[in-house]
Formats: sequence, C-alpha cells, structure tokens
Amino acid sequence: MWLKDWTDEHTQKFRNEALTAQHKLSETGLFTDEALADLLDRHPRSELDICTIADHDVYQAKFRTGDAGDADGATLIEAAKSGAIWMNLRRAMNLHEDYKKVLDGIYGELSDSTGNRALNPRGGILITCPTAQTPYHCDPTETILWHVRGHKRFYLYPRKPKYLPDEGYERVLYCDNEDYLPYDETFEDEARCFDLTGDDMISWPLNAPHRVENKSFCVSVTTEYSTMESTLKNAVMYTNAVLRQKFGMSPDWRSASWPEKAVKAGAGRVMRKFGVLSSMKQTDMVTFKVSRTAPGYIHDTTPYPRPG
Ligand SMILES: [Fe+2]
Repeated sequence: MWLKDWTDEHTQKFRNEALTAQHKLSETGLFTDEALADLLDRHPRSELDICTIADHDVYQAKFRTGDAGDADGATLIEAAKSGAIWMNLRRAMNLHEDYKKVLDGIYGELSDSTGNRALNPRGGILITCPTAQTPYHCDPTETILWHVRGHKRFYLYPRKPKYLPDEGYERVLYCDNEDYLPYDETFEDEARCFDLTGDDMISWPLNAPHRVENKSFCVSVTTEYSTMESTLKNAVMYTNAVLRQKFGMSPDWRSASWPEKAVKAGAGRVMRKFGVLSSMKQTDMVTFKVSRTAPGYIHDTTPYPRPG
C-alpha cells in the first residue's frame, strides 16, 4: 500500500547497501503547502527547528538557529519557498495522529517486506528551501529518507576511516549540537550520487556519511530507529570518547575485538547515563526570528539561548 513495486532485491539490499525505491506518501494529501501550513500551526514550537545558513570552512556549513516568532504556518512555508529558511518538524510523524498513521503504515509494510522489526521508529518532516544543503554528516541510528516533493541530490560516501573517522563520530555522539563531520573535496572521488524526485525513498548502511543538496523547494520525511547494532556501537563509541578525551588514549572501533566491545558497551551505557562528557555541550543560540515584514523574512535578534 505504501511501497511501490518492492522486490526481493530491495529486501536483500535493505540496510546492507544503498537502496532506492518508490513510495506513495504524496497520495495522502498530508504534504501539500496547505496541509503543511496547517500542520505548522498545530505543531509544538519547541519541536520545530528553523535555520538559515552561514558559511563555514572546515565543516561544510553551519546553521544559524532561528525562531518562528509570530509567523503562522503559511508565512513559514512562504519563507522556505523564498530560500530564506529551512525547517525540521521534529517528531511530526509521531505527534500528530493523521501523520502517525502514515508512519505506522510505512514501517508496518517495511517490516513485513524485509523481516526487520523497527524498534521505536521516529519521524520528522523536513521542509527545505532551494538554496539549503544538508552538510556532510552521518546519523547514529538507522535512517531512511522518504522524499516527497521537489528535487534533492543525495551524495553517499564509504564508511572507511578517511570518510568516517572515529573521533568525528564520537563528537556526533557526545556533543548535542555537533551533528557534522569534517569534509574535504577529495571525498567526491568515491561519492555515489542519487537524484531524488517525487516519492523516492533512499536508505543506506548504518552510519554511512552523506550530504544533500536541494535543487528546489523540497518536502521530505526522515525516519530513524535504533537496532541492536546501532545501540551497541554507540555505547562503545561513548566509552572510546571518554578514553580519548579524559585519558588521552587512541581507541579504535574497527580493530576492537568483540569481548572489548562488550565491556566498553556496558561502561558506555553507564557513563552516558551519568553524562560524563556533558560539560562538552554547547548552548544553542537563537539569532533571528521569522517575520513577514522583515527583508527576506529574517529579523536579526540579539542572541539568546534556545528555550527548552
Ligand atoms: Fe542524515
């Protein structure tokens, strides 16, 4: 019902290599401008990320965090279409009953087709402007991009140390607002490129680095879920981060034995719970509000910590 022409070949590739397939999310009518404006009006503002882009040399781009201010849903959609902002409606697919039915539907069907049981899937909605790009990064959980509207260009990279260094991955885990990996233009030599248009989904192996260029106004759903594999790795990497940061050691994920991983996973779970590395969190500062009357929809403000 939600997946189009899914075959055994798709099942074999799922979670093992890059996989594209078609779906039918646009047929729900939940992703039109009008439906999204209505959704923005009822979505909790605390679960809404609004950003505009500021250039950065080493990390591919850094975002400025904004606030919706008094803008209603229709204004926010207009601002995104103009190229001023992009938005992430965090957990929108979980928080709203009409969207949750779709999340349950796609994961139920994926689970039936692949035999994979998705643990606690979470889903957000990305509304991106033509100028926005999602910089080079990796996700610490199993992630699927369900592209719905517009044209996105998706670049996928190998999981070798050059592209996915342990230290970079550890930082993603222990820094709340450090989601990106260092990027170098030579990475393009081994990149795979996928053009996504309406109702295309793409999935990839756990942690494979990627980046996205929006070639037009785009609407996509991103879903993520944890598996035994991702949970174990993240606990081990947390321990490795502590060893590296606090004790000056040089742990290595790829060469570690299973007994070593088992011990580190247990320690990592405990240390993460007690926030051993919490002092490394940075405060996320809001630097603008969206305003219909401001030039380019951006009203700069004196920076203040993001609420919540
Ligand atoms: Fe991602």
